[in-house]
Amino acid sequence: MISKKMENMVANSSAIRAMFEEGNRLAGIYGAENVFDFSLGNPNVPAPKAVKDAIIEVLNEENPVVLHGYTNSNAGYEDVRAAVAQSLNERFGTKFASRNITMTVGAAGGLNVILKALLNPGDEVMTFAPYFGEYRSYVNNYDGVLVEVSPNTEDFQPKLDEFKEKITAKTRAVIVNTPNNPTGVVYSEDTIKKMAEILEEKQKEFGTDIYLISDEPYRELAYDGVEVPYLTKYYANTIVGYSYSKSLSLPGERIGYLVIPDEAADSENIISAVNVATRILGFVNAPTLQQKVVKACLREKTDISYYDRNRETLYNGLKDLGFTCIKPEGAFYLFVKSPVEDEKEFCQAAKKYNILLVPGSSFACPGYVRLAYCVSYETIVNALPKFKELAAEYR
Ligand SMILES: Cc1ncc(COP(=O)(O)O)c(C=O)c1O
Repeated sequence: MISKKMENMVANSSAIRAMFEEGNRLAGIYGAENVFDFSLGNPNVPAPKAVKDAIIEVLNEENPVVLHGYTNSNAGYEDVRAAVAQSLNERFGTKFASRNITMTVGAAGGLNVILKALLNPGDEVMTFAPYFGEYRSYVNNYDGVLVEVSPNTEDFQPKLDEFKEKITAKTRAVIVNTPNNPTGVVYSEDTIKKMAEILEEKQKEFGTDIYLISDEPYRELAYDGVEVPYLTKYYANTIVGYSYSKSLSLPGERIGYLVIPDEAADSENIISAVNVATRILGFVNAPTLQQKVVKACLREKTDISYYDRNRETLYNGLKDLGFTCIKPEGAFYLFVKSPVEDEKEFCQAAKKYNILLVPGSSFACPGYVRLAYCVSYETIVNALPKFKELAAEYR
């Protein structure tokens, strides 16, 4: 018998698996080119050539016993962490050192490690709907309670009044994700400043430390020159979780890092706890080859123009067909209003045209659907006539 906790998790994850299997089933019947699968956030732009070059060079140059061994510190190689700190300092004017950086098994690994380090059972973690559904599971892993702030469907910036009201003496952390999955919205500097003010005020009121966890796997995927504020500059108790999954198209390689600034309350203990959490959650250390590879590729980025063309084509195409959606400024998702209240019904209708969408209720925002446009340009061009037929059903 599996645990009660896992029974729920398995039941929930079968919906995602069902979607994946549906994509494969339809591709088997109609041919992959006739299936328009917008359900997965798996980058389809290959990693920059520099990544392959770095892998070869690292394999040729490094001592294999050291390269493939456990790292001395669970936080990762000292030289890699120093280089990451240095590159952040150059980009954002911060003052990080290697001790502030812990290499992680992607953003997911980083979030689990920091939540393990921070949460006591019953502690509350707040986040803003719509949000990446895995947050609920990650918080649940450490017996925390996820508290949602309802979605602001006007512009998908966080609802700060409701946020302020819902902070309690038990609020331990707040997770923000900007650029956002599933909306593609970038939280404005004004929003961040106001959020920081509220957090300062509430820390004083309750005499607690509230950590702002900035989950930023999409930081480099920002369009039209939009600024993505670096949150440690606005609020001292900020912890950043970064990932190379999307910025270098390496989701399977599982590499990212956490930043725990010296300014964060109790930072020394948190850094130690994160080290131990990395070990005892069974990660032990982030993949060693990939640590060295990202060190060599700190200035590299994925080809953002590819996603940008998809964004423009899909956004304009759907808008012309009468669909409603905010133009995303980042990430590679479009969050479209369902023409009927029950968006799951809309997802079912889309399937008749071999279009696969994710219902907004998976992101705590029913009435919307998410389209991941990290697909080939042809998929978008060929899907638009199908969307036209789908739209006609709702006239
Ligand atoms: C908002 C958000 N956070 C975290 C993750 C996990 O990313 P990683 O592959 O780095 O673990 C994802 C993946 O899609 C995501 O969308």
